[in-house]
Formats: sequence, C-alpha cells, structure tokens
Amino acid sequence: MIYFDNAATSFPKPPEVAAAVAAGLAAPASPGRSGHAASLNASRTIHQARKALSKLLGFRDNGRLVFTANITWALNMAMDGLRLQAGDHVLSTCLEHNSVARPLARLAAEGGVEWETVPLDRQGLIDPAEFRRRLKPSTRLAVAIHASNVTGALVDIRRVKEAVGEIPLLIDTAQTAGAMDLGDLGQWADLVALTGHKGLMGPTGTGGLWVRPGLELRPLAVGGTGSRSESLEQPDFLPDALEAGTANTHGLAGLAAGVEFVLRTGAEVIREHELALTSAFIEGLREVPHIAVLGPPERERRVATTSLVVEGWSSSDLAAALEREYGIMTRAGLHCAPLAHRALGSFPGGATRFSFGFFNVMEEVETAVRALTELARRKN
Ligand SMILES: Cc1ncc(COP(=O)(O)O)c(C=O)c1O
Repeated sequence: MIYFDNAATSFPKPPEVAAAVAAGLAAPASPGRSGHAASLNASRTIHQARKALSKLLGFRDNGRLVFTANITWALNMAMDGLRLQAGDHVLSTCLEHNSVARPLARLAAEGGVEWETVPLDRQGLIDPAEFRRRLKPSTRLAVAIHASNVTGALVDIRRVKEAVGEIPLLIDTAQTAGAMDLGDLGQWADLVALTGHKGLMGPTGTGGLWVRPGLELRPLAVGGTGSRSESLEQPDFLPDALEAGTANTHGLAGLAAGVEFVLRTGAEVIREHELALTSAFIEGLREVPHIAVLGPPERERRVATTSLVVEGWSSSDLAAALEREYGIMTRAGLHCAPLAHRALGSFPGGATRFSFGFFNVMEEVETAVRALTELARRKN
C-alpha cells in the first residue's frame, strides 16, 4: 500500500501517538472535574497538549487555545461566535473548504450576512491586496485558508492580515499546522483554527481554536466545565468559556505526543522532505502528455498536496485504478472544496489528489509517476 492521502489525515502516526492514547485509556479521564490524582493527571495531559501546541505555533497565551473535536467545529465556533448581524460583510478566499463555505453560506441565507469571495489572480493565486480592495465599512470578518487542500497553494496570510487591518482574520491552518514553520503567527493572528489529525500527527477527534486577547466569542455549546459550578451561566474566561463538556483526554494525549514529535523533528525538516517528494512528482509528470497538474509548481508557494486531471479518466475511475492496480491511495472528487474547483475550472468532475507525508519515500513517488504515465497512455 502506498498512502498518498495525508491531506485527509496523516498516516502512519509516530508510534508514540498510539502509545500515549493507550496509556491515557488505562486511567480514568475526567480532567478538571474531580480532585483525585487521576483527574489531576488528566488535566496535566491536556495542559501538556496546550503547551506543546503553543510552543509549535507561537501562541502568546496558551490559556486562549481552546480544544475542539476538529477544525470544522473550531471554524464554526469562530464564525458563529462573532454574532454577525444582517448587513455585516465577510470576506474569504475562493479556495475555502466547506467547513468555512457552508457556515458562511448559511449565515448569508439565514442571517442576511453579505459574503464575498476573493478570486484567483492570473497566476492562479490569491492576491492579498484584493482583500484591501474589497473592504467595506460593514466588513466584520475575513477568513483565509492558509494552504489549499486541493492544489496545495499557500495564501500569504501575513499580508492578508496587513490588508484587512483591524478586522479580525480567521485562519484555517488545516493543511499547514505541523507541515511548516508558522513563524510568529501567534504574535499577530486574531483567530487560528487547527485540526489535530493531519500535520500535527494526532488522532482524529482533536482540533482547536486560538483566540487573541480582546476578542470575545459566544460559545456554540454551553455546559459543564468543572469551574463556577454554582452558576447557571457559562464561565466567561478561556479556555472554559468555549470548552463545555468533558474533553477528549485520550485524543489530546495522542495529540500532545504528535506535536512533540513535530517539535523534535522540526516542522521545516518535515516540510523539506515533503516538498522534495512533491517537486519530484510534479517534475516527473511535466513531460507526460494528457496530465494537467493543478496549482503552483514553485516550492515556496505550496505545501505537499497536489491534484491532477488526466484526459480520458474521471477523477474517481483514476483513483480506483491507482488503488486496484498499484496499491496507491489518493482522493478523488471535489475534496469538500467545490468553490476551489469552480475557481480552478475542475468543477464538477473534480480531480485526483496526491498528498505526501513525512513517512512517504521517493520510491513511492516514482511508482506513482510510472503508474500515471501508464494510465494516461491507456486512454489516449
Ligand atoms: C483546508 C481544510 N479545512 C478544513 C478541513 C476540515 O477538517 P476536519 O474534518 O478535521 O474538521 C480540512 C480537511 O478535510 C481541510 O483540508
């Protein structure tokens, strides 16, 4: 089996991730609830995950990092929590995943919010200056995917923040957290959403949202927090305000181990390896007729995800042939990103996505290039 679906979820995980989850399962896990040793230990595990993530992503105050079930929940929490009103204007890129697009479409349809997307420029990239050009007095929020989960193209989020100024910017780091050095992101960002099971190497069911000081979000859910239990109102301090219900202690134990693996290895070392594979893949296909690779070839403009269309093949038939005949696992279709495929001209058929991970090796890429060359020839 050759696993090229790391943009969906990373595989394999470092062995210490499974070990941490198993160790967590072997003890009671009720963090912040009881005073006994096991409960205190569970709290420490969660604190460890907050600390490791804050170190990796440069967050100033790890108490403002709240854990969620995934990035979808974190993004919803941010967009819903800002209490946008009818007439408010929201800007996003045209590359957003449905975890941003569907909540915004609903806010537009049901809440009268005006949602505008920034299109691709002539090079097929997002020009941050377009955010500034589209600002209105009513703009209340900007949202930017950090890297497209279809093409791997990076968006210059620092310049987007400069373009929108005081307007809060919500950043979707699903394809970048753990996969590259995010620099001083935590020093200037307003809202950073992350998912634990991709580049951060953790289990599914983990994610988070970092909220900068001064921004207040209405919780999506309220309930038990183990704090201020005498009150029927949700605590107003973070992380408790946005963490109703018992946390996924086992998953977070695994996430802490995954993030510590990234810290030890170095996000830039991971990026270098993944980009070497991606460049070899793109280069290997450059001369192969009937294959169109979506997204920028330049390393500095991308992460290790790329999609392609092969003449004569539907994206799903191609993915099925790759798996059946070569044991190569990819992802076909629209990748939960119909807006991106519309912008790229690959809607509705979609594309076949290859996403490389830290544990992939060059021979696997060579096999994929050979397989695609043969399959393209077969139908042309
Ligand atoms: C860019 C992007 N945003 C959001 C998501 C949603 O991630 P999750 O399913 O972990 O919430 C994904 C993953 O599929 C993604 O690639």
